[in-house]
Amino acid sequence: MDKFIVNGGNQISGKVDISGAKNAVLPLMTAALLVDGKTTINSVPDLRDTRTMIRLLKIIGAEVSFEANSMSVNASNINNLEAPYDLVKTMRASFYVLGPLLARFGEVRVSLPGGCSWGPRPVDFHLKGLEKLGAKISLESGYILAKAKHLYGNRICFDFPSVGATGNILMASVLAIGETCIENAAKEPEIVQLCEVLNDMGASISGIGTDKLIINGVDKLDSIDIDVIPDRIEAGTYLIAGALMGDITLNNCNPKHLEDFIDKLKLAGANISSTENSISINKIDSINPVDVTTEVYPGFPTDLQAQWMVFMSVANGRSSVIDTVYHDRFTHIPELNRLGADIRLNENKAEINGVKKLIGAQVMSTDIRASAALILGAIIAQGKTEISRVYHIDRGYDSIENKFKSLGVDIVRINE
Ligand code: EPZ
Repeated sequence: MDKFIVNGGNQISGKVDISGAKNAVLPLMTAALLVDGKTTINSVPDLRDTRTMIRLLKIIGAEVSFEANSMSVNASNINNLEAPYDLVKTMRASFYVLGPLLARFGEVRVSLPGGCSWGPRPVDFHLKGLEKLGAKISLESGYILAKAKHLYGNRICFDFPSVGATGNILMASVLAIGETCIENAAKEPEIVQLCEVLNDMGASISGIGTDKLIINGVDKLDSIDIDVIPDRIEAGTYLIAGALMGDITLNNCNPKHLEDFIDKLKLAGANISSTENSISINKIDSINPVDVTTEVYPGFPTDLQAQWMVFMSVANGRSSVIDTVYHDRFTHIPELNRLGADIRLNENKAEINGVKKLIGAQVMSTDIRASAALILGAIIAQGKTEISRVYHIDRGYDSIENKFKSLGVDIVRINE
């Protein structure tokens, strides 16, 4: 398993190009299964998760090509309606094939996703939603079997605005007979793009960007060319690097997707300027402690709470981070404390006592965003940090060591 060696303390500067959004491209790749033809997707990030999804689509029978961030998915000859355990267990987003395959072929077998490093992640909202559309759902040896000769529009109200469940029910309902209303729907930019792309394919979705989506089923969808939106979580990660260690500019990003996060950075003392598709930030000499509570979009993203914790670990005073989306997404805390951070956890609230500096150490990645936080910690730490199990970070960050190297970070990947 690869590891990173980082010698911290370098000031950073320069420009970094943000890649296409992981959490947009994954559902868009499965949306291509709805079309009897070839869909082209551009600005695709080269990630472990993208390549896992390619493997899954090929197992299902799609023809997929991927080169220089451009992908084509031809779903004309789907011949296997099963998503196998050994793939689904490595990437929960594999569950996104459920809605499209059920909508187009009337049946599908998908392995239940396992938990992840920070705990169980149920799929009950997905399954209840599909049952409301008329699917018969059963559990067989760890696989979900869903069947429906036809899907019929219905009213579905989520207990929680789940991103994945909203995506799956959207992709199931676009070919259903009649009208579906999804209430308490997710409003993340990645779901907005999924709605827009489905409409470009010929679907009829209204209420886009709100928590109430109305979908009128159509008979079929057509191939289109898609351009994936920029990754707001990757952008937020680099913005924290800039606030900590230097003056950087992010190209190909959308400041509108990070409004609450940017507001919190400004409260911490950041000097930020932005255009329609770029954001610049200067190093903060004296970081103000700022409490954050994660919320669903447009609130502070849970996918940036680990990175924010590193930022606050060297602020002037005490702050807190509460995660209301995942109450147990804190496996990064013991690793950050190994770097000298002073963070205590009480249920889903982390209390951070700012320290003067972090000191390099051996640390271990536990999930995509925790790994990103460890790199940020290593960049500001005094001395050498060794980060193991970087396959976690490769799942969600395209060329992260090269992008940080281009900004002046002393980071090398060791293939072990
Ligand atoms: C998506 O996961 C993202 N992944 C996650 O990003 C992100 O953290 C999450 O949304 C929240 O924003 C992708 O888009 C591929 P949810 P998802 O369904 O869809 C509970 C990253 O680092 N829930 O919105 O799985 C669930 O347990 C990843 O890029 C149910 O109880 O998240 C959680 O507490 C990590 N039952 C909450 O809802 C369900 O059926 C939000 O989950 C579904 C979800």
